[in-house]
Amino acid sequence: MKQLLVPVISNKLVMPETHLLTVDAPEIATQARPGQFCMIHCGEGYFLRRPISVHGVSDGLSFLVKVVGRGTACLSQSQPCDTLDIIGPLGNGFSIPPGVRKLLLVAGGMGVAPLAFLARTALLQNLSVTLLVGVKTKELVYPLHLLPGGVDLLPVTEDGSEGKKGLVTDFLSELATKSDQVFACGPVAMYKAMYRLKVKKAIQVSLEAWMGCGMGACYACTTLTRQGPKQVCRDGPVFEMDDILWDKI
Ligand code: FES
Repeated sequence: MKQLLVPVISNKLVMPETHLLTVDAPEIATQARPGQFCMIHCGEGYFLRRPISVHGVSDGLSFLVKVVGRGTACLSQSQPCDTLDIIGPLGNGFSIPPGVRKLLLVAGGMGVAPLAFLARTALLQNLSVTLLVGVKTKELVYPLHLLPGGVDLLPVTEDGSEGKKGLVTDFLSELATKSDQVFACGPVAMYKAMYRLKVKKAIQVSLEAWMGCGMGACYACTTLTRQGPKQVCRDGPVFEMDDILWDKI
C-alpha cells in the first residue's frame, strides 16, 4: 500500500455522469488485485478521501468515477496533467479458487467496475466469464468496448430497453447452475435478494460501506459477520456471502 501523488493520464465520459479516470501509478497498478480499492483525495476543500474500486491496471491505473456528490463531482473534473493524491491498493479483493473454470459475475449498477477487472484477470487465466449487469435503463449499461473480447455480457434493464427486462436476481438461479462460482458487486438490497434465492454455489460479494479512513483505523465501516464484527475496508471489501449476517445489516 502506498500514498502517491500521481498524474492523470485521461478522463473519458463513458456513461451518464460516469467517468473513466486513468492515472499513471505503476507502483499501485502492479500490486492491485480485482476487488481492491484506493482512497482518493477529491481536491482542495475536501477532507475525507473517497474509496473507489480499481477498474483496471493495463495502460495505467483506472477507476470508474460516478458523480454522486460534490467530492466525486470535483474528482470527475480531473484532467490530464492534474495530479491526484491516492492511497492504495487497499482491502482484500476477489480470489478465484483452484478448480474454478466458469465464472458468473453479477453487477448491480456501478458494481461493474471491479468485476470488469476480475473479468480481464480471469480471461488471462483462460477461464470462462459471464457478466450479468443490472441497470435501470440502456444508457447505464457498461460499454461493451471496455470489456475484453471473450466476456459473455448479459445486460438486464429494469425498463427492458436493452437485454432482458427485470432484475439480475430474476436470472441468477439459472445462470448460477452453469457456473462454478459467483462473484458479485452491487448494493446491499441486491445481495439480500440474492441470498434469499439460496443459490447452491459459492458467492463472493464486495460490500459497499461508508468509509472514513479506508485503513482500519476509524471503525466507520464495521459490518456484522458470523465471525463477529469486521471492517469492510480492512477485512473486506470482499466477503463470502454466507458469512454476512444479512438480516442485521
Ligand atoms: Fe475506517 Fe474502515 S473506513 S476502519
